[in-house]
Amino acid sequence: MTGRNDPCWCGSGQKWKKCHFPQEDTHLLKENSFTKLKDEYSHKHEILIKDEKQIEGIRASCQLASRILDATCQMAKEGVTTQELNDFAHKLHLEAGAIPAPLHYGQPPFPKSICTSVNEVICHGIPDQTPLRKGDIVNIDVTCILNGYYGDCSRMVTIGEVNPERQLVVDVAYECLMRSIAILKPGIPISSVGSVIEEYAHSKKCSVVNQFVGHGVGVNFHEGPQIPHHRNKNQILFVPGMTFTIEPMINAGVREAVIDQKDQWTARTKDGKPSAQWEHTILITENGHEILTSWVRNLPK
Ligand code: MF3
Ligand code: CO
Ligand code: CO
Repeated sequence: MTGRNDPCWCGSGQKWKKCHFPQEDTHLLKENSFTKLKDEYSHKHEILIKDEKQIEGIRASCQLASRILDATCQMAKEGVTTQELNDFAHKLHLEAGAIPAPLHYGQPPFPKSICTSVNEVICHGIPDQTPLRKGDIVNIDVTCILNGYYGDCSRMVTIGEVNPERQLVVDVAYECLMRSIAILKPGIPISSVGSVIEEYAHSKKCSVVNQFVGHGVGVNFHEGPQIPHHRNKNQILFVPGMTFTIEPMINAGVREAVIDQKDQWTARTKDGKPSAQWEHTILITENGHEILTSWVRNLPK
């Protein structure tokens, strides 16, 4: 939480209580500096500060994405193919009146509706006919478009007993996500996310992927700003109304990713060691944050 005496998140240099502290009577006075900040963010950094109506739309989309993600994760069992997971998730999108954002996204167009990244695949794994096997770890990543708004989230599923190295990246990646979310509030620099994540990952002898980042999301799939998970010097401050993802990719070995030459999407660890990732979409509020994607780690069995 920002304290009343902390510097205001808007960068005015004033104490928060003297500046944007929410109060009916000062509201109009402050409107002006907030409008200026919003313009500056969109022009300089391509960051869209969302209004109430947009936040409502993004919240609904995030809730749907979480629900589809949870249901799809429950389907992920030994013998089930990632293609079957894709088809199940695709159907849930359509039933809810939503569009799966990955389908035909980018260049070359992504061929499926969700990403499924198994073991040494870091991200952007393409669902196929390979059945999940005992000991696999799989990331399932769902992004839906509902009424034009985007919600983006992902989780890991472990298939039966997994070896200690795989379990380690699954647990460390989750902890990295939740620890970095815990510090989010207006007025802190984007670089603080990467500091928290690298410090924790290194303390567990894991590496942090730096070729893929979190991102602004909500009105478009990938908006500014980029949110690096590795150590960085990005001094842009979080402000209320920003919606973005944090989605740390944590490796047991080296951090380097290699993109599949044939499909141009699948990103694998260079050394073949396991990688894990969890993702939430988050909103910065006046005095903290709200996790918009409501999935929880432990599903009832
Ligand atoms: N959902 C992924 C993310 O977290 C992006 C997937 S892009 C795709 O940003 F084309 F591979 F689907
Ligand atoms: Co994302
Ligand atoms: Co995602």
